[in-house]
Amino acid sequence: MNENDAMLYRNGDDSRHVILQSRNVCKEFRIGENRLQVLKGISLDVFKGETLSLMGVSGAGKSTLLNILGGLDRPTEGSVVFEGIDVYRMSQFQRNEYRASRIGFIFQAYFLLPELDVLENVLLPAMRQLRWISRASYYRERAFELLNRVGLGERAGHRPSELSGGEQQRAAIARSLMNKPDIVLADEPTGNLDSKTGEQVLQYLFDLTVGEGRTLVLVTHNEAIASMCGRNLHIVDGRIDG
Ligand SMILES: Nc1ncnc2c1ncn2[C@@H]1O[C@H](COP(=O)(O)OP(=O)(O)OP(=O)(O)O)[C@@H](O)[C@H]1O
Ligand SMILES: [Mg+2]
Repeated sequence: MNENDAMLYRNGDDSRHVILQSRNVCKEFRIGENRLQVLKGISLDVFKGETLSLMGVSGAGKSTLLNILGGLDRPTEGSVVFEGIDVYRMSQFQRNEYRASRIGFIFQAYFLLPELDVLENVLLPAMRQLRWISRASYYRERAFELLNRVGLGERAGHRPSELSGGEQQRAAIARSLMNKPDIVLADEPTGNLDSKTGEQVLQYLFDLTVGEGRTLVLVTHNEAIASMCGRNLHIVDGRIDG
C-alpha cells in the first residue's frame, strides 16, 4: 500500500468507493474572438469519505473544475458522474436536486446574503422544505445546531456585516452543511483569513465534514493546508499533474 492509499484508508471506512468522477473534462471559455482552453482533459476519482486537495497557480482552473464537479457549470467536453449518474445528462430539475441535496459549496468570498441574518443564511438551502410548516421547526433547530457547532450560536440573529471574516466563513460552513450533503466542495475557504483564523475555520470544516463521514474537496494555494488532506492533486496546464 503506498502512502496515499494509507491516508485514504485512514480517512474513511468506505474510502475506495468512487462517489464522484470526472472523465476527460475540458472547459473552454470564449471571450470575443479569443478562446481560452482552461481545462484540457481532467479525469479524477473522488473516493467516498476522503479529503482531497486541489492545488494549482492562480488561473489554473481550480474554481472552474470545482464548479463543474458541483453541477454549476457544464464542461465543454467530458463527463461528471455522481454515484453512477452523469450530472450533465440529468434534467435541469435533477441537477438542481443534485446541487441542493448532495453538494455543499463553500466559496472564498463567503456569499452570505447581507439582508438576511445569520440563521436565515444557514437556513437558505432548506428554503424549499420550509414551505412545509411541520418541518420548519426541524430545520430551524438544525440551523441553530450547526451554528452552535461552528461557535456562532450567540450570533444567529446578527447580520453578516456584523461578523468578522472568520465568523462569516464559519457561517458559510454551517450553511453548506444544512442539507447534509455527501460532498463538500470548498474553494479556498481560508484564502481571505489570517493564518490563525484560517486554522480555526479549517478545524471546524474538517470536524463537520470528515468527522461525519462526508467527502471533502478543498481548493487551496497553501501547501500546509493541502497536507492536511489525504490526497493532493495539482492542476498544471489544464491537466492533473502526475
Ligand atoms: N466565465 C468565464 N469567462 C471567461 N474566462 C473565465 C471565466 N471563468 C474563468 N475564466 C478564466 O479561466 C481561467 C481559470 O479560472 P479559475 O477561476 O478557474 O482559476 P483558479 O485556478 O480558480 O484561480 P485562482 O487561484 O486565482 O482562484 C482564468 O484565466 C479565468 O480568467
Ligand atoms: Mg479560484
